[in-house]
Amino acid sequence: MVAARITVNGKETPLSPAAPHTTVLDLLRERGLTGTKEGCAEGECGACSVLVARPGVNKPTDWVAVNACLVPAAALDGQEIITSEGLATVGEPGTRPTLHPVQEEMAVRGGSQCGYCTPGFICSMASEYYRPDRCAHAEPADGADVHGEAHADAEHGPNGFDLHSLSGNLCRCTGYRPIRDAAFAVGAPAEDDPLAQRREQSPPEPAATVYTQDDSTFVRPGTLTEALRLLRERPGAVVVAGSTDWGVEVNIRSRRADYVVAVDRLPELRALQVASDHIEIGAAQTLTEIERRLDGSVPLLAELFPQFASRLIRNSATLGGNLGTGSPIGDSPPVLLALEASLLLADADGEREVPLADYFTGYRQSVRRPGELIRAVRIPLPLSPVTAFHKIAKRRFDDISSVAIAFALDIEGGIVRKARIGLGGVAATPIRALSTEAALEGRAWTAETVEAAARVLRGEGTPMSDHRASSVYRSAMLGQSLLKLHAQTTEAVSS
Ligand code: FES
Ligand code: FES
Repeated sequence: MVAARITVNGKETPLSPAAPHTTVLDLLRERGLTGTKEGCAEGECGACSVLVARPGVNKPTDWVAVNACLVPAAALDGQEIITSEGLATVGEPGTRPTLHPVQEEMAVRGGSQCGYCTPGFICSMASEYYRPDRCAHAEPADGADVHGEAHADAEHGPNGFDLHSLSGNLCRCTGYRPIRDAAFAVGAPAEDDPLAQRREQSPPEPAATVYTQDDSTFVRPGTLTEALRLLRERPGAVVVAGSTDWGVEVNIRSRRADYVVAVDRLPELRALQVASDHIEIGAAQTLTEIERRLDGSVPLLAELFPQFASRLIRNSATLGGNLGTGSPIGDSPPVLLALEASLLLADADGEREVPLADYFTGYRQSVRRPGELIRAVRIPLPLSPVTAFHKIAKRRFDDISSVAIAFALDIEGGIVRKARIGLGGVAATPIRALSTEAALEGRAWTAETVEAAARVLRGEGTPMSDHRASSVYRSAMLGQSLLKLHAQTTEAVSS
């Protein structure tokens, strides 16, 4: 087996002697690439953002920005990454490097002051710069009005630049307007741009990795069969996909594992299939991949994704991870409960299907047995036509919910034929609002019905008071959410 290594800015960088829990950020900085910065070490500031060559949605390769502080370096064995240092073109010795177009725009428009956040912004911006469907619509930047009416909307520039791509990057100096100006000023990549050209070839295949230092081992099995065999032999192993949760445990709580099994590149966990009666989403598809592949065809998921953490996190995080951790405030479970999703759980003996409504058994506990993996999430079709996801949080983006409510209703002839409501943040597990569903089903979708059902909804779960919200506030938001849905949908339903 080839020694574990990462191609960084075109140069092979061996992992050894780094410990298996070493993050990409720490590896880069230890090897002298100090452009990549640590701000928070928990995926919230984006100072550590780097670009990874990943399987593309519209081209063989996408340049995907990820939080280097969360990803174990061993997870990128055999992969290619680009840091902020690798974006500029270095010429002859003694000459100044030629800045990358996003670096140039950030420099000339005042997008960098103290500079600490800048390499991270540059990498997130470069990822969006190379997004193929943005490039298809991008005009040359010359003459673009970057300050006002020419914008498609407040969050998308005239060059197709989606500001959500920067939602995981924080800056304490600029006030963001110059950064937005830089983002909205970049044009399409030049034809001879090497990173644009690199998108036309496939990314490196995932390496089957066994990386051991001292008493700890990081393993990337090559097949699902091998992964399930390892998990049977070592039921205490830590399973990681995007590592957005485990990375925080390692950095902030100093947790270490003897044995980590990475499942994020297993082909069996990365399919997305649409059948006549269901959609099956591989548990290791990243949220960004799902969002782009479904392209709005599941409106409730489309509403969820922009509110789920940040683009940087969504570029790594998976549905399997969000469900596997069993957090009562995860954002995907309320939505998947409303969609009546089920989970396909695989172990060395085979596979079983468990409705998500039966999956959670207690605080961060589930029916998933030691040695079992979530292989896929299955969503039945047809979808209910009236859906909404309301996330109550202190910030609009990149925040943890105080309460999350997902609705999926069938309303025919003004009557609620079916109601499915998923709740997060109001109990030790995500739950269905069964009493509220019963209070709606078979009744007219009127203000009276909704007000009565909202009173029921306020009493669902056992919301607690903590630093995010009081129990009274959480209950009030539940009822308010249903009233809001009614106000939003009455016109559409009656028309
Ligand atoms: Fe803040 Fe990585 S250091 S997101
Ligand atoms: Fe100082 Fe962004 S330029 S934090």
